[in-house]
Amino acid sequence: MRAPDTFQTDRLTLRPVTRADAADVFAYAGEAAPTRFMPFVRQRDPAESLAFCIRCEEARVSGAAFPWALIEQATGAFLGVIELRLSPPKADFGYILKEDAWGRGFASEAASAVVGWAIDQPDIHRVWATCDPDNAASAAVLKKASLSYEATLANWEARPQLGEAAGHSCVYALTKSVA
Ligand SMILES: CC(C)(COP(=O)(O)OP(=O)(O)OC[C@H]1O[C@@H](n2cnc3c(N)ncnc32)[C@H](O)[C@@H]1OP(=O)(O)O)[C@@H](O)C(=O)NCCC(=O)NCCS
Repeated sequence: MRAPDTFQTDRLTLRPVTRADAADVFAYAGEAAPTRFMPFVRQRDPAESLAFCIRCEEARVSGAAFPWALIEQATGAFLGVIELRLSPPKADFGYILKEDAWGRGFASEAASAVVGWAIDQPDIHRVWATCDPDNAASAAVLKKASLSYEATLANWEARPQLGEAAGHSCVYALTKSVA
């Protein structure tokens, strides 16, 4: 099962992440605010961003994950990345934007497009994501993308920037009606 290579929303184009995006990825993955709640160690070297982008290319080829760059149509600016993982009957996703793109509805717009596509697939019955209980902005994005809070999972994810080896996570989901 594969996801589309591109999405067009009102203001965004979502297109595959490639190794040419490494400098743009480092612009957020090396910064404190965007990586605060993320499970990876904040990047210190642009070579780490290049490795991430190569992994994105490979994941799309294998189908392990579908990472898209968020491109603002009006400016051509690279705003961040959203990634969908398809594992029928479910799919999960995550996202991160550079700080100067926050607060303009871009994450919600991208997440809504990706979630909408995923839940429309006959083989996908659950679309889910998690966030740190203190990540109010991410929780708001998930609700705007039609997911609902389900539970708080104890010791779900490492958050190296917060010094947590196994932090709690809130799980949100959109599910099809039970037959
Ligand atoms: C989480 C993140 C993707 C949100 O991106 P964004 O483009 O600013 O989100 P949106 O503009 O779509 O905002 C969605 C909603 O969140 C709300 N929001 C934003 N910051 C908030 C905050 N600190 N507290 C509460 N709500 C907040 C907005 O008001 C908006 O709701 P509204 O349209 O009703 O006003 C962005 O902050 C980010 O990249 N953070 C770092 C990475 C991260 O945490 N990723 C998620 C990991 S689970």
